[in-house]
Amino acid sequence: MTRATARAHPNIALVKYWGKRDEAQMLPAAGSMSMTLDAFATTTTVEVDGTLTEDAFSLGGAEQTGVALDRTTRFLDVVRSLAGDGRRARVRSHNEAPTAAGLASSASGFAALALAAAAAYGLDLDERALSRLARRGSGSATRSVIPGYAVWHAGTDDASSYAEGIEAPDLRLVIVTVDGSPKSVSSRRAMRLTAATSPFYEAWVSSTEQSLTEMVRACADGDVPRIGALTESHALRMHAVIATSTPPVRYLAPRSIEVFDAAVRLREAGVTAWATADAGPNVCVLTTPAEAEAVAAAVAEHGEVRIVGPGPGAHLLAEHLPEP
Ligand code: DP6
Repeated sequence: MTRATARAHPNIALVKYWGKRDEAQMLPAAGSMSMTLDAFATTTTVEVDGTLTEDAFSLGGAEQTGVALDRTTRFLDVVRSLAGDGRRARVRSHNEAPTAAGLASSASGFAALALAAAAAYGLDLDERALSRLARRGSGSATRSVIPGYAVWHAGTDDASSYAEGIEAPDLRLVIVTVDGSPKSVSSRRAMRLTAATSPFYEAWVSSTEQSLTEMVRACADGDVPRIGALTESHALRMHAVIATSTPPVRYLAPRSIEVFDAAVRLREAGVTAWATADAGPNVCVLTTPAEAEAVAAAVAEHGEVRIVGPGPGAHLLAEHLPEP
């Protein structure tokens, strides 16, 4: 096949990834765990074309240049070397979520690109190999290959750093979009800064391994309050270590903090509600399917709300994207 289309969804980490031990291989400093969502998909078509002298990449119909094209080409280089096929490709991608608004679209983007490119270049990869390949594009994409809940094992080399599915209770996330504009500092840059300058970075890495062990146990036990408590404290730790970088980086806005406070008040009222946030101001409130509507209504004053749940892993589509 020289042309293939794949679809993948973003994920929200309940135990966060923040920092790499190896930039070239994209190995994380610690493991992480996430829910792949059932919303905000990226659909990507890759067409291998021997007549092209350079790769081409369009996003939402707009031709990309500079960093975005560069990252795509570097990723395709990995696929080309695996396939032993040097031909260039045309990549057309469409995001259902606003790019860089903190909804982890690099995760869905590289998970979809990994699968579409692997198929277009004729590689037959199992889930683990696909997860490892997606990792080369963006760390969080490692987990978006997997449906539902995924643990990304940090590993010590390319072969041992991959994500796999785990069993966990059926949960919902209420996404509160307090600010839809692109983030000020990319996660890649900011995590580099944290690793290089925060005096608390080592404690962050070692405590993340501990949180992940506890999270995996809580998921196996179906212990929702424990999953929630670990989720919220781990997110706050991540934002704390980010804030101790030099120069400091702060992603949470005053309105984000209000949502964290609202989750505390909901819990005091006996409702399941635990907050988390990635590298941006938008907040997700973890709750149960039965309580999701009530939680969404309670936090709607802070921003646009959307209830999401566990979704599918990266998959190939039979149909192709229409020509732009
Ligand atoms: C805060 O995966 O976007 O969302 O690996 O450099 O591409 P790169 O970074 P990226 O970082 C995600 C950071 C996070 C936490 C998480 O998803 O675990």
